[in-house]
Amino acid sequence: MSTDVVAPPPEARTLPFYRALAKYTRDPIRAFEEAGKQAEGRIVRLNMGPFKPYLVTHPDHVQHVLRGNWSNYVREGMFWDPLTSLFGDGIFSDGAGWQESRKIVQPLFTTRYIDSLTERMASILAEQIEEEIRPGVPFDAFTMVSKIVHPTIVRLFFGDKISREDIAQLVPAYDTAVTSKAIRLVLPFVPEGVPLPGDKAFERSIKTIDEVAYARIREVRRNLDDDQDIVSALCRARKDEPGEAGDRKIRDDLVGMHGASTETSATALTWIWPVLDAHPEIAQLVYEEVDRVVGAGPISPAHLPELRYLRMFLNEMLRLYPVGWILPRKVVADDVIGGVQVRAGSTVVLSPYLTHRLPEFWDRPLEFDPERFDPEREDRRHRYAYFPYGGGPHQCLGPSLFMMEALLLVGGILSRFRPVLGNTTPIVPKLASTLRPNQSVQMTLVPIERS
Ligand code: HEM
Repeated sequence: MSTDVVAPPPEARTLPFYRALAKYTRDPIRAFEEAGKQAEGRIVRLNMGPFKPYLVTHPDHVQHVLRGNWSNYVREGMFWDPLTSLFGDGIFSDGAGWQESRKIVQPLFTTRYIDSLTERMASILAEQIEEEIRPGVPFDAFTMVSKIVHPTIVRLFFGDKISREDIAQLVPAYDTAVTSKAIRLVLPFVPEGVPLPGDKAFERSIKTIDEVAYARIREVRRNLDDDQDIVSALCRARKDEPGEAGDRKIRDDLVGMHGASTETSATALTWIWPVLDAHPEIAQLVYEEVDRVVGAGPISPAHLPELRYLRMFLNEMLRLYPVGWILPRKVVADDVIGGVQVRAGSTVVLSPYLTHRLPEFWDRPLEFDPERFDPEREDRRHRYAYFPYGGGPHQCLGPSLFMMEALLLVGGILSRFRPVLGNTTPIVPKLASTLRPNQSVQMTLVPIERS
């Protein structure tokens, strides 16, 4: 009988991340990029003093966390705990509550259902664009895009069951709710009991959201109909769960989906303009395609399949500027990833931002090139080399909805205007709860003169 003792897997190498953060105080994304480079695709620990998350970048390891052994990596701790009182125990939680919600929500997002929303989204977006855009007058791109996207999503989710006054209350409340906890993302070791700036605003915004959402949900439940909007669909799906417990679950899923869809979409749609501005030759190809397919507009759902290059452009944009730049998970039980020991109770951080820039998986990784997403070339890639929408059982439910929204918005704007940016220094990413531009994107829309 052999008496050999099998050596335990090695612990991960620890990088002095606090030193890199101190070096790049004005530009912490550089510290993060440097850590990604030093890791060279292996699992490392980022030493941030009391907090030492594992950084996981290699696509095989990402796959292990998101799919292979996904139930060992839960959405708790960093990032998630501060948001629990907003998202509740629904689609944006984990465990049994999430599983039950996923069973209800996922079947709603069929291609047929999304297609059925296209006409409505096109007309809402056209109205919002008309309302918000002042040709020739400079504006901040994120503010403008949010003013278009937020009411569009609220109107799409609630159908005609929501008044203008309610929309005017809900939109800023959601905005405050998803942004006011950003500081806790960079201070993940501060316990929830210790107050931080933004906490009070967060609580007030939840109160507003709840007042509006519960009133509408109860009304829809009293008069259940066959309407296509998301609230009606959720209420029908939970019709056998009466009372406050059922109301609460519908509220949690509604608010979770709203949070998931607005901040991400608005940030992604803001990046389009600086990226077009930085790559004039690529912008020219986008403009030519919109001119050829949509002409002077108005854009309609029939145009969308033809906007092939714009779709490739958007996919490449989400490679270099993945708005969900970080996906943290808490480790339930000790595990081994890529031969390295990962300890229970610690945090694992996945980062589409870093994985999407790995030279082993991306030729010329820092070059913006939409041709990578030519549908004929795409299937040669590792599934987890590109994961702007996550993967595995928690895979985002919104890629088709986002693509539809982006094509309609960008196609609609570019059929009538050309964007001109007034920024004088390069626009680069900044780390917040989503990957935002580091400065206000100053933009003017100049009407196209057609002969
Ligand atoms: C550019 C746009 C978007 C990006 C980059 C994005 C990204 C993501 C990512 C990375 C996740 C995975 C989170 C995790 O694993 O913990 C996710 C989940 C989710 N997304 Fe999106 N998303 C976008 C738009 C949308 C839209 C428009 C919806 C509309 C309904 C949506 C609904 C959801 C939902 C419900 C989940 C949770 C799924 C689950 O945990 O079961 N997303 N999204």
